Amino acid sequence: MKEQLLKKNTTKTAFSNLKKAPVVQPNSMKPLGIVGGGQLARMLALKAHELGIKVAVLSENAFDPAAQVTSLWTQGALGNRADLRKFLSICSLVTFESEFLDAHLLESLSRETSVPVLPRPSDMALIQDRLTQKEILLKHRLPTARFHSVATEDEARWAFDDLGGRAVFKKRRFGYDGYGTFIVRSAQDLKKFLPELTKNSHGFIAEEFVPFKRELAVMVVRSLRGQTVRLPFVESYQENARCLWVKGPLRKSAKLTALGQKLEKFLSAISYCGTMGVELFDTGSKLIVNELAPRVHNSGHYSLDALSDDQFSLHIKAVLGQDLVTPRVLSPGFAMMNLLGSTTEPATWLLPSEIKLHWYGKEENRPGRKMGHINVLAATPEKALALVKNRRSCFRV
Ligand SMILES: Nc1ncnc2c1ncn2[C@@H]1O[C@H](COP(=O)(O)OP(=O)(O)OP(=O)(O)O)[C@@H](O)[C@H]1O
Ligand SMILES: [Mg+2]
Repeated sequence: MKEQLLKKNTTKTAFSNLKKAPVVQPNSMKPLGIVGGGQLARMLALKAHELGIKVAVLSENAFDPAAQVTSLWTQGALGNRADLRKFLSICSLVTFESEFLDAHLLESLSRETSVPVLPRPSDMALIQDRLTQKEILLKHRLPTARFHSVATEDEARWAFDDLGGRAVFKKRRFGYDGYGTFIVRSAQDLKKFLPELTKNSHGFIAEEFVPFKRELAVMVVRSLRGQTVRLPFVESYQENARCLWVKGPLRKSAKLTALGQKLEKFLSAISYCGTMGVELFDTGSKLIVNELAPRVHNSGHYSLDALSDDQFSLHIKAVLGQDLVTPRVLSPGFAMMNLLGSTTEPATWLLPSEIKLHWYGKEENRPGRKMGHINVLAATPEKALALVKNRRSCFRV
């Protein structure tokens, strides 16, 4: 009787799971492919291993952070048709760590090889260009700073005046970590900025300067089967336009919940698949979307230790069409600090206590380079931030 019951229950569970989500068969599956070999790809690969998913990485060098953590590393150039095609053909499904790939090439290779690329290259194309990204935010009624498209000096002058004599010029393509963002506060600044226009063939957007009180971020995830979850809102702090630390969770508020729901609806409206990083400005009275990233994101790294499921695992589950469950927050306070290089000397550190280190395995230390990050849990976000700042001194990078 007991055996029968057990059998019945097992069958029922297995059957309902089968109906709900595609089954993953790690040993017979071709690997999940990741295009790119940096730290985001490394953390995705490490999490794939934990989930029992075989993972292949395409990158240029065998010592790239992600190449080091899989035996299925393929050497190749990320923009090269033949390299990409070969890589896609050994994978069951391909994802990526950077939106700055040739989206049209990926799309055509995905069709040619019948290997899905997720998030879809069409979403990558929309988001990788700041102008189309802003347009899509407007289309879906997400709050964002006023902007103009700028290609010539006359347009830059006009936009600067129209935006009130203070503007943020951003490269339409290939801007990251503040490279490509120019905060222009005066006519003199504008004069200094103008030569940049001719150095860049993709053009710029000029954006209204937002006098924010703090910057926030949230990760939203949508699965292939249309389920959405979102992680807690966090505060992020940038130094020289580059993320230095994150703390959270933010206290829940009606405004944050409303925006979170709007973002989930947005992902559904565009049938997005995977994790999306959303950067926000909080002006005190308004929340404004600064930027979208169609991938896992630096401001979600805290989730590796502070949540019951992290942004990398959720991304993998999402693209594989597995069930998503909103992660639990494991601590009333958490903080993440980036370990940014400040010299070219090899990094050294004392193994500190009370923190979790995530080292990216980069060969060379360089000023400003993201070498790793540390996560801390504590009784409040402020205590976690104080602790992570204190433990930062254990690292010479
Ligand atoms: N409109 C704005 N008003 C005021 N400050 C801004 C504005 N846009 C950007 N910034 C500041 O510049 C930083 C970098 O800008 P943005 O996020 O657009 O560029 P990025 O190069 O993509 O940066 P990252 O890769 O680090 O996210 C922001 O985090 C913010 O501190
Ligand atoms: Mg940004």
